[in-house]
Amino acid sequence: MIKNWDEFLLPYEQAVEELKTKFKSIRREFRVMNEYSPIEFVTGRVKKISSIIEKARRKSVDPECVEDIAGIRIICQLVDDIPLVVEHIRSRNGKDMEIVVERDYITHMKESGYRSYHIIISYVVHTAYGNKKILAEIQIRTLAMNFWATIEHSINYKFGENMPEDLRKRLIDSGEIASKLDEEMSKIKFEIVDSQEFFMTRSALVARVIKQIQTLFFSGNVEKAEITQLQEEFYHIREQGNIEELKQLNKKLELMIQKLYLD
Ligand code: GTP
Ligand code: MG
Repeated sequence: MIKNWDEFLLPYEQAVEELKTKFKSIRREFRVMNEYSPIEFVTGRVKKISSIIEKARRKSVDPECVEDIAGIRIICQLVDDIPLVVEHIRSRNGKDMEIVVERDYITHMKESGYRSYHIIISYVVHTAYGNKKILAEIQIRTLAMNFWATIEHSINYKFGENMPEDLRKRLIDSGEIASKLDEEMSKIKFEIVDSQEFFMTRSALVARVIKQIQTLFFSGNVEKAEITQLQEEFYHIREQGNIEELKQLNKKLELMIQKLYLD
């Protein structure tokens, strides 16, 4: 029997926060490198006490053995991103986490129509009272899988065991449609990735141009009128949205800065 639930849940709360931060920073790293990120977004939650008790009872285990008290969800745009995320987690095995079991509900869809890739890990949390090893569940799924699971979950929550047969069938059908959508999106993957990288390159260029104009300004060696002119040129190009012109302006500024430091 757990006497103090707040105390029991503390390491799980810490684990969820840490794991969320870790996976979110992977996304940030890709973005900084102007690369397509296999991770779209990350969420996490600690299971409600009533659900922990219910699940521990249903499975006849102690609450510590409930695998998803700490739950992380990694959402990807495309199905092909999922193995990349799985590989990444495997590469951390034995480092900051240990893989306990993997469950592939994508290759082996559940009867309900549920699809997702699950990895149960054990994870050490360092607390003021020493280290504690806990279990956490990482669910990796696409946006379409997440959409389906979210709707299905809320319907399931409402009906429980008493879901009308017709509704169950429609859920299975919509699961198939979600699966088709994932398939279709994979086919146009290269175009999606391409357009996103194009967009990121552009915003990275904009950021670089602004930084370089600032550098020139703060050097104190460029006439104010010239800075104003560069700024106007930049605004003009940014409005027009021509990436080639933006690249040229970036190059010109690079050369100006180089020249400043060579003179
Ligand atoms: P519970 O289903 O929670 O009892 O867990 P389990 O020990 O049977 O493990 P399983 O891998 O089946 O499910 C773990 C988690 O996956 C669940 O807590 C849900 O978040 C999710 N999940 C599994 N099956 C379904 C499903 O049919 N629909 C939805 N929406 N989510 C599911
Ligand atoms: Mg289950």
